[in-house]
Amino acid sequence: MYDNILVDREGPLAFITFNRPKVLNAMNHQTKEEVLAALEELEAEDSVRVVIFRGAGGKAFVAGADIKEFSGLRPIRQWEERRRLHFYERVAAFPKPVIAMIGGYCLGGGCELALACDIRTASASSRIGQPEINIGLLPGGGGSQRLPRLVGQGKAMQLILTGDMISADEAKSIGLVEEVYPDEELEERTKELALKISEKSPVALRLAKEAVRGAAKMGLEAGLEYESALFSLLFSTDDTAEGVKAFLEKRKPSFKGE
Ligand code: CAA
Repeated sequence: MYDNILVDREGPLAFITFNRPKVLNAMNHQTKEEVLAALEELEAEDSVRVVIFRGAGGKAFVAGADIKEFSGLRPIRQWEERRRLHFYERVAAFPKPVIAMIGGYCLGGGCELALACDIRTASASSRIGQPEINIGLLPGGGGSQRLPRLVGQGKAMQLILTGDMISADEAKSIGLVEEVYPDEELEERTKELALKISEKSPVALRLAKEAVRGAAKMGLEAGLEYESALFSLLFSTDDTAEGVKAFLEKRKPSFKGE
């Protein structure tokens, strides 16, 4: 159905796999269009509780935007396309939890995609960075804004101004990835993490994600108001009633997402 990605379901988990291993899964326009269509599909499927991005071929998550498309690119074309696609923001605002499972190179637009995800796991041998400066560009997929929010301004500056790649361990030490696993355990351990999340109430997950995203968008006072409103809203849901009842009855809750 898609040329550049694969979409697989495994119980409550869905995988979107970047599948252009010959170019280290570099993302061209078509890939982004396909991901947007896949997200549309997965948003509508209630059985899908968590989405995981990964790369095919074992060498890369995504090695960036497809540089071939930059050759001779006219600014107006780039501007129009970005207005139309809103690719990274769609990933960030996706109403279900999204995990970037980084196995190998995670560069440029690939790193920015990971930054737009909610949680990042990485294999120990992964290499992560924003190398756009090496081709006379700056991160154009939100990296200049999301990276400093995650790792602080100084580290973001260093990564963006040098274009250096860092190891998964270093990425973890600065807060750029949340977990580092041995290469052969990346998939299994990431699935464990995703399955744990998938058991929670979908509606509580959705609002919790919204609340945390609010922290990057507003000041503390407005953010606390926003949190209060979302917290209160959950008392209108069956899931919250079920969660509280199950706790008091000392049993596992059964969440329906209502
Ligand atoms: N775009 C297009 N093609 C890419 C690519 C990319 N981002 N990254 C790798 N490829 C291609 C290579 O051209 C090569 O193709 P050929 O076999 O046809 O020559 C193939 O993938 C394999 O790559 P290498 O032979 O270079 O593999 P390597 O192991 O020697 O090096 C690498 C790996 C260090 C990741 C190197 O490929 C590299 O530096 N890639 C570019 C990374 C980059 O600059 N990414 C940022 C892109 S700009 C961006 O993302 C803008 C944005 O903010 C949205």
